[in-house]
Amino acid sequence: MPQSDSIQHLLDRRKQWLGPNVATFYDEPVHIVKGEGVWLWDAAGRKYLDCYNNVPHVGHCHPKVVEAICKQASTLNTHTRYLHELVLDYIERLTATMDQPLRSAVMTCTGTEANDLALRMARSVTGKTGIIATDHTYHGNSLAVSQLSTTSRPAGPAFDNVRFVPAPDSYRPLGGEAGLAHGIRFAEAVQRQIDDLEKSGHGFSAMMLCPYFANEGFPDLVEGWLKPTAEVVKRAGGILIADEIQPGFGRLGSHMWGYQQAGILPDIVTLGKPMGNGHPVGALVTSPEILGQFRGTSKYFNTFGGNPVSCAAAMATLKVLQDEKLMQNAERVGAFAKAGLQKLSLKHEVIGDVRGLGFFFGIELVLDRKSKAPATAYAKRIANAMRERGVLMSFIGIHYNVLKMRPPMPFGIEHADLMLSALDDALTTEPVLA
Ligand SMILES: Cc1ncc(COP(=O)(O)O)c(C=O)c1O
Repeated sequence: MPQSDSIQHLLDRRKQWLGPNVATFYDEPVHIVKGEGVWLWDAAGRKYLDCYNNVPHVGHCHPKVVEAICKQASTLNTHTRYLHELVLDYIERLTATMDQPLRSAVMTCTGTEANDLALRMARSVTGKTGIIATDHTYHGNSLAVSQLSTTSRPAGPAFDNVRFVPAPDSYRPLGGEAGLAHGIRFAEAVQRQIDDLEKSGHGFSAMMLCPYFANEGFPDLVEGWLKPTAEVVKRAGGILIADEIQPGFGRLGSHMWGYQQAGILPDIVTLGKPMGNGHPVGALVTSPEILGQFRGTSKYFNTFGGNPVSCAAAMATLKVLQDEKLMQNAERVGAFAKAGLQKLSLKHEVIGDVRGLGFFFGIELVLDRKSKAPATAYAKRIANAMRERGVLMSFIGIHYNVLKMRPPMPFGIEHADLMLSALDDALTTEPVLA
């Protein structure tokens, strides 16, 4: 069967069995059948360089993770109501990478579950219900957590206990103020929403944020930018929740956790995506004190959370990350890739901004550098043009005009070179679209 026929056939079957509007990447969706390291293969045998997938963190189908999953799956899989060492060993090793007092955890299956639990925990510890998030974020898909997203809201009236603050944008900073002043304006906006929640009777329970503002378009924020916000939250007696689902596990190269890079200490940290290298596993990490207070008032059981097979996957992923020094790789190769993008910006006027850290980097495309008018349609076109050239990436940001790259952590200099030359070719060949 020709490739296009088989893709159309799969699309028809998806519509039949999964319902309409199930998103795919790219105008011409990719049918991936195999992965290894930073490479993916489609059904026709074409090879793609993966510059996008953060879930296969230590590389697609890493043999050590695969082996750990197989070994545990063929020995035992139960849940945390039976005693088992692996969940304890894992949490001990995981929390050793975090700061005091983040030393106890609850295992979940997804990032959404971890964030949903974080909101419950904040509510039970503070006795209040008001939550603050940015106005261009995504923290998950449950009824409660999806209320924190202005971009993927569920049907029905919005929850009255949620308030938003403008997402940070280093390229177009709030009120035109850059640097630390931008961070202070952000903290002031948080304070206003805290006051409003208190006035409304909900009270202020928690602020949930990604310390790297990944879904907001990963703005380039100066050192200490988030500190005033952390102070405002603390002073008001709220719980600061750091959603590490995107920046965590060393992706930023210089630090294991986004909150460490931002120089703040959250009360709760939530984890997901890269944690099991593709195996569904997430977690919430907090202090023994907060967890103790929660456990004292609430029952929480998650059938699959902390099962031995998921813990084996997570443990193997963490060991590979540390043993293969992949954080250091992200720092070195990420800097090389970013420098390459900066070089491309000298040649391509459409690149308005280059930003990123470690293996989370990209370019903001604009129609005109002076007005900074977003080249939204063009960013989508370039992501498709790169797919046509065998390089996978996507776009995000407040205006959806930021080409986003978050490759698996074994991404090397040779892969960055390949990406950069394909991108140069795409930006040279594709006419800029308004
Ligand atoms: C920042 C952030 N938080 C939470 C989630 C939700 O994670 P999951 O899809 O595992 O529920 C996502 C998923 O894209 C995310 O990007």
